[in-house]
Amino acid sequence: MARFFPSFLLAASLLAVPSQARMLFPFEQRQLTREYVASLPEEDQLLFAFDDQLSFTEANTTDKRCRYAPGDGKWPSDKAWTKLAKQLSSTSALIQTVPQASVCYGTTKDDTKCQNLTKSWSNSYTHIDDPTEVLSPIYQGLTCQPPSIYDSKSCTLGGYPSYVINAKDVLDIQLGINFARNDYVRLVVKNTGHDFAGKSAGAGSLSIWTHGLKDIQFFDNYVDESGYKGPAVKAGAGVQAFELYKAANAKGLVVVAGEGQTVGIMGGYIQGGGHSPLSSLYGMAADHVLGFEIVTPIGEFLSANSTSNTDLFWALRGGGGGTYGVVTSVTVKAYKDFPVTAASWSFDSAKLGLDKFWAASKAFFDRAIDNVDAGTYSYIIMAPNPNGKDYAFIMQPFFAPNKTAKETNTILAPYFSRLTSLNIPFSPNITEYKGFYAAWQAEFPLEGTGDVQTAVGSRLFPRSNFNSEYGRNITFNALRQTLEAGQSVIAFNVAPTLARGGNPDNAVNPAWRTAVLHAIAGRRWPVAASASEILAVRTAFTNGTMQKWRDITPGSGSYLNEADRLEPNWQQSFWGNKYAKLLQIKQDWDAKDVFWAVNSVGSEGWVVENVDGLPNENGKLCKVNGTSPTPTPAP
Ligand SMILES: Cc1cc2nc3c(=O)[nH]c(=O)nc-3n(C[C@H](O)[C@H](O)[C@H](O)COP(=O)(O)OP(=O)(O)OC[C@H]3O[C@@H](n4cnc5c(N)ncnc54)[C@H](O)[C@@H]3O)c2cc1C
Ligand SMILES: *[C@@H]1O[C@H](CO)[C@@H](O)[C@H](O)[C@H]1NC(C)=O
Ligand SMILES: *[C@@H]1O[C@H](CO)[C@@H](O)[C@H](O)[C@H]1NC(C)=O
Ligand SMILES: *[C@@H]1O[C@H](CO)[C@@H](O)[C@H](O)[C@H]1NC(C)=O
Ligand SMILES: *[C@@H]1O[C@H](CO)[C@@H](O)[C@H](O)[C@H]1NC(C)=O
Ligand SMILES: *[C@@H]1O[C@H](CO)[C@@H](O)[C@H](O)[C@H]1NC(C)=O
Ligand SMILES: *[C@@H]1O[C@H](CO)[C@@H](O)[C@H](O)[C@H]1NC(C)=O
Ligand SMILES: *[C@@H]1O[C@H](CO)[C@@H](O)[C@H](O)[C@H]1NC(C)=O
Ligand SMILES: *[C@@H]1O[C@H](CO)[C@@H](O)[C@H](O)[C@H]1NC(C)=O
Repeated sequence: MARFFPSFLLAASLLAVPSQARMLFPFEQRQLTREYVASLPEEDQLLFAFDDQLSFTEANTTDKRCRYAPGDGKWPSDKAWTKLAKQLSSTSALIQTVPQASVCYGTTKDDTKCQNLTKSWSNSYTHIDDPTEVLSPIYQGLTCQPPSIYDSKSCTLGGYPSYVINAKDVLDIQLGINFARNDYVRLVVKNTGHDFAGKSAGAGSLSIWTHGLKDIQFFDNYVDESGYKGPAVKAGAGVQAFELYKAANAKGLVVVAGEGQTVGIMGGYIQGGGHSPLSSLYGMAADHVLGFEIVTPIGEFLSANSTSNTDLFWALRGGGGGTYGVVTSVTVKAYKDFPVTAASWSFDSAKLGLDKFWAASKAFFDRAIDNVDAGTYSYIIMAPNPNGKDYAFIMQPFFAPNKTAKETNTILAPYFSRLTSLNIPFSPNITEYKGFYAAWQAEFPLEGTGDVQTAVGSRLFPRSNFNSEYGRNITFNALRQTLEAGQSVIAFNVAPTLARGGNPDNAVNPAWRTAVLHAIAGRRWPVAASASEILAVRTAFTNGTMQKWRDITPGSGSYLNEADRLEPNWQQSFWGNKYAKLLQIKQDWDAKDVFWAVNSVGSEGWVVENVDGLPNENGKLCKVNGTSPTPTPAP
């Protein structure tokens, strides 16, 4: 009798496999404690206390309509800022914002420096390695650009933060959060500044800059309570794609991360979901997260993983950056490397003629489902030529992970024979690489940046748009009409449908799971356009062009990390039926709205009262007048 092992005992013994102990980076071990705060003079305690350490009798709230801004009576004094600097890992960690292009204006003008800066302005590193610059400067308000790029007339702070903490440890982050919350100062988080909607900027704010948190640690055999056993990597919040891929490659591993070289993988990218050249095989980057370390809105440093703070763990995997706290590191699964084949080709209607050009382009999209079912990822640029009459189609690249050149040719063969039958000449450049890193490095060019005259929007096109001839026709026609109206399109043929090896029970937009195409459109306006001209263009774009895309994809959505700042019904669009749960978690962890970013979960109660009438970060962050901050969750 006793030889039978009751099943509950068996389960218990399986659970007893020792799991990975919480491993903290040295920078995560330097923390603020309640005891330390309590030891400070009372005046300083008010600045740095954890939220639960102070019992404010919420006195006079009539002047709390807006977060305090420079010039307001209750904006922290110079003395308070100096006290903050003294508590940080080093006093130089507190940076008072000086826009880079201040060398082009006023009393700080220096022509040599300004010319030099202008030359490197379109290089993304110029902005990423700066404490306050963002890659979509229109959302900063364009108040200090090099004049030959955009005439700002003078240099003012606009939507740049007032102060930045160049975070070197968890202590710095806790102090920043506590200081901003206790003093009713707007808080923002900047990592690389890649966000399409300017979410890493904010006028009159204290910004926490996570770019310096670069630690990387591999585990050959990570054991997680969720059942995972295998390779994993823990990376600091500041680690960028090029750094993570390089480190993984040295271990013969790959991780699911972005195509862009400089994207901050453990910041906004993974918290917003994260699509990858590996997504048609592995799903979204967020599907592969094992755990986060995070400083919460009350100032606490804790873990969110499959056994601790599981609601936060769920929300941080797709719920969006800048919402639930400052993540300091993320641990993700890693996989064995494999060969990759990549191909590139292009068509130009000036050479082909328009009919053949559209036929060649459509022939590719007709294969959208077959491509992703074979595990591939394509990055396609379609743009009007400067002459306004012709168009280009650029495949750069068609990326086939875990495929030889021979296998890739087989995948592309039906498309190539279609081109042949249409009598369209083509010359693809097909290259086989031994591993992912070499392929990624060679095939994805460094992104440019700094556009001052374009609005972008995006849409996830589901499989059902491509599984009938009628669906393929209307879908391609919508893309074609966008080009014919003078707008450019970047399209990703990718399907993160299955989280192979990962866990899709997370906050990732459900629209991603049925998508086979993520397409982004861009609409330009003249660089010197007035505010009302810009608004007219934007309305035509958001409610015209993009509405046509929405009309043919009912119930789908848009990728929050690459979206229109004016996206209508963004709660449904970015999170579908997961929004209500995300909002509840936001209210549980951040009842005071310490974290706020435009179109982020729970952001409905506040608005930037912009000074120039344009949608941007150039204005005070204020409560929405006369409405309750509790929004109606999406159905
Ligand atoms: C050139 C380019 C290429 C891109 N390629 C891809 C791609 O291949 N796949 C893809 O999915 N997306 C891609 N994106 C979009 C990218 O995912 C988003 O821009 C994303 O927000 C970048 O995150 P970040 O931390 O680098 O940027 P940031 O702009 O610094 O931050 C974005 C948001 O996250 C918040 N945030 C940043 N760090 C933290 C943190 N540690 N804790 C809490 N909140 C934080 C910020 O407050 C902000 O709200 C690309 C964007 C660009 C401009
Ligand atoms: C999850 O977090 C808890 C609390 O920090 C920690 O003890 C545990 O080891 C973590 N689990 C994993 C697998 O990291
Ligand atoms: C509350 O603050 C406002 C604005 O600072 C001020 O005008 C008002 O007198 C204060 N009320 C009380 C009761 O202190
Ligand atoms: C010119 O710009 C480069 C970066 O592009 C910088 O390293 C260098 O210091 C600058 N020189 C001057 C004189 O400003
Ligand atoms: C890679 O290809 C091999 C051989 O075709 C296959 O066994 C393996 O499952 C593939 N790996 C992934 C992650 O698709
Ligand atoms: C083919 O592509 C590879 C990788 O981008 C590049 O190095 C090579 O020069 C290309 N060859 C041709 C003929 O364009
Ligand atoms: C799709 O478009 C082609 C080319 O315009 C046309 O011949 C065909 O009839 C269309 N099919 C459907 C089902 O709409
Ligand atoms: C689009 O239309 C809606 C409804 O009329 C309006 O509220 C919104 O402001 C418009 N969006 C833009 C960008 O103009
Ligand atoms: C809200 O009301 C204040 C004062 O009444 C006004 O100055 C502000 O412009 C209003 N904000 C919005 C967004 O309507």
